[in-house]
Amino acid sequence: QIIVLDYGSQYNQLIARRIRELGVYSELLQNDITAKEIKSMKHVKGIILSGGPNSVYSKDAYGIDQEIFQLGIPVLGICYGMQLMSYKSGADINRAKHREYGKARIDVLRENLLFNELPVQQDVWMSHGDQLISLQDGFEPLASSPTCPYAAIYNNEMQFYGVQFHPEVKHTTYGTELLKNFVFKICKASANWDMENFIDVKVAEIKEQVGDKKVLLGLSGGVDSSVAAVLIHHAIKDQLQCIFVDHGLLRKNEAYEVMKTFSEGFNIKIEKVNAKEIFLSRLKGISDPEQKRKIIGNEFVYLFDDEAKKLGNFEYLGQGTLYTDVIESGTKTAQTIKSHHNVGGLPEDMKFTLLEPLNTLFKDEVRELGLELGIPKKIVMRQPFPGPGLAIRILGDVTEEKLEIVRESDAILREEIKKAALENEVWQYFTVLSNMKTVGVMGDMRTYDYTVGIRAVTSIDGMTADFAKIPWNVLEHISRRIVNEVDHVNRIVYDITSKPPATIEWE
Ligand code: XMP
Repeated sequence: QIIVLDYGSQYNQLIARRIRELGVYSELLQNDITAKEIKSMKHVKGIILSGGPNSVYSKDAYGIDQEIFQLGIPVLGICYGMQLMSYKSGADINRAKHREYGKARIDVLRENLLFNELPVQQDVWMSHGDQLISLQDGFEPLASSPTCPYAAIYNNEMQFYGVQFHPEVKHTTYGTELLKNFVFKICKASANWDMENFIDVKVAEIKEQVGDKKVLLGLSGGVDSSVAAVLIHHAIKDQLQCIFVDHGLLRKNEAYEVMKTFSEGFNIKIEKVNAKEIFLSRLKGISDPEQKRKIIGNEFVYLFDDEAKKLGNFEYLGQGTLYTDVIESGTKTAQTIKSHHNVGGLPEDMKFTLLEPLNTLFKDEVRELGLELGIPKKIVMRQPFPGPGLAIRILGDVTEEKLEIVRESDAILREEIKKAALENEVWQYFTVLSNMKTVGVMGDMRTYDYTVGIRAVTSIDGMTADFAKIPWNVLEHISRRIVNEVDHVNRIVYDITSKPPATIEWE
C-alpha cells in the first residue's frame, strides 16, 4: 500500500482516493506516525506527505519522524510536504507575502520517472504561501514555473520527490498520471486492490475487532447506514441488531418504506422505535444549527442506550460514517465546518465503542461497495439524506407545522424531478424552509407566508458541488405546485450557490 501522512489540507483524502482508483490500497494516516510503526506495517511501498495550511516556520508546525527518510521507501512531498522534507534537511524557504493560488504553467526540466511520458509544458494547480528558494544536497530541480523556481524537485539516489503544486486536484491536468508514475514506476506497487478486496479486508477486520460481542446499528435506510449494516452483517450475522428510529424528521412515507425494504428484503434483525415526541420536545425553541445537530446526535445515542438495554448486551455502536463526515466535523489537523450528527454529536460519556467500517470512503465509493455487496440499486443510488433529517432543512426552530411544509414541498419536488427524468443527473435535491416570511397576493388577498428554497446539486462525493441547472420549465412547474398545494407558502427561491463557498445543506 501507499500511505499518505495528513498535514491538514481539506482535500487530503483525495490523494488516498486517487491512488485507490489506480487499484492500489491507500490510507490517510496521522502525521505523528513513527518510522518504527511504518516498518511494522506490511507492504508499504511508498509514502506521501500531504499539503497543509501551516508554514514550516510556524511555532506549532507539524513535524515528521526523521527516521522515516531512512526507511529506503520512496517519498513524495506535496506542497507543505515538500517544504517539510526540504526544510528539515537544511534548505531555505521563502515566506511569501502573497499566496499563489490558481492555475500555473510549469516546464519540466529533465527526464525523470515522475513526469515520465508527460508533456514538457503542463498546467498545474498551485495553492501555497511559502516556497523553496534553495535546494539541499542531493536534490535537483525537476520543473519550474515563472514564479516558482522549484515547482518540482527530486533526489534520484533516495527516490525522494517533491511538488509545490497539487496533483490530487482535477485542475492539475496530468495530476492523476503523475501520481500513477509515482505509484507504479517509482514505488513499483502493483494494482491488485478493488472493492471485492476491500470487503474481504473489512469483514476480517470486523470479525477480529468484534469477536463474540454484539453490535447495535442505527439504520436510517440511507445509503451509508444500509451499506454499513450489510457489510457488518456479512461479517458477524446475527450478532448485529439494527434499530430504525423514527424521529419524526423523516421525509414523506420514509419510515414505512425503510421498514418494508429491510424486513422483507434482508435477513437483518431490525426493530422500529417511535420517538417523534421526544425529539420534537428536545428541539422545541432551539434555532442554532450546531445545537440542533448536537441535540439530535445525543438523543440518538441515549435512545440507543435505552434500546440496547432492552434488546441485550451491546458493546459496539455500528455507524455508516463516511470520510466526508469525519473531515468536515474537524480532525486534529482539519477545521470543523459542521458537526455531522454521526461524528460531532456523540456525547462524551457514551458507553459504546464505535465501529465505523466506511470511514475512509467517499460516497461514490460506498455506492460501489453497496452494489458489490448485492444491495439493490434503488437503495444504493438513493440521494443522501442527513442524519438530523428535516430538522436542518428548517431554518430556525422546528415545529410540526414547519415539518409538514418541508415534507410536502419536498415530496412534490421529488415527484417532479422523477417525472422530468432528472433523478440520475441531479445528485441531491430537496426543499428548505427558510425562516423568512414575505408578502404575496393570492386570489386578490394579501398573504404573509413562508419562503421555500429549492436546493439541487450535482456532485461526485459531496465534498464539492455545483448547483444543478434544472430546466426553467421544470422549476416553474415545481414552484407553481408547491405554492398551490402546500399551505403557508407564497414564494419559492432557487439556490444558485456552489460548494464551496456554500455547503449543500443550509444548516
Ligand atoms: P454539506 O451540507 O456539509 O453536506 O455540504 C454534504 C453531504 O452530507 C450530508 N450531510 C449529512 N449526512 N449526517 C449525515 O449523515 C449529517 O449530519 C449531515 N449533514 C450533511 C448532506 O446531505 C450532503 O449530502
